[in-house]
Amino acid sequence: MAILKIARMGHPVLRRRAEVVTDLHDPEVQRLIDDMHETMIDANGAGIAAPQVYVSRRVVMFRVPAERTTEDPQDQPMGLTVLINPVLEPIGEEKHLGWEGCLSVPGLRGEVPRYSRLRYSGLAPDGSRIEREATGFHATVVQHECDHLDGILYPQRMTDLTKLIFTSEWDAFTGGSIPEPPDD
Ligand code: NI
Repeated sequence: MAILKIARMGHPVLRRRAEVVTDLHDPEVQRLIDDMHETMIDANGAGIAAPQVYVSRRVVMFRVPAERTTEDPQDQPMGLTVLINPVLEPIGEEKHLGWEGCLSVPGLRGEVPRYSRLRYSGLAPDGSRIEREATGFHATVVQHECDHLDGILYPQRMTDLTKLIFTSEWDAFTGGSIPEPPDD
């Protein structure tokens, strides 16, 4: 396993539409998943997508740390999920605002509108099919990671750029009342 370099906003790999994974048994795919996991843990991220490590393939992973769950009773902490070739389908039009950071946009945080409920599906590394519904932070992190596969970074989803701030100003901005979120 290896800790990989993370591409930052401006690199073309983050703007590209990533390619579908056709062979799950390709040892390179399994190695990519292991390396992405190690890289995410090392960077203290809640999620990571393959384009962030310069690999333009449709692979994401994410977790729901207890400290990031919302009041929604369905938004429970969750260990690592690896999703290959994911498909998202919003349930209804309702959106919520949440603070996001991104390993590819270091030092910044932004408040981003995301669908409040969605259904997602994809393949696990063993080839089994994952189908779930998500709300709250779980829904947010899935949308954030899958956007990376379509060349979209969270600032492009923002509707109020006065809420794009440097992490170092976080306490001043929030009055110290909200803990600083980790990167996705
Ligand atoms: Ni990100």
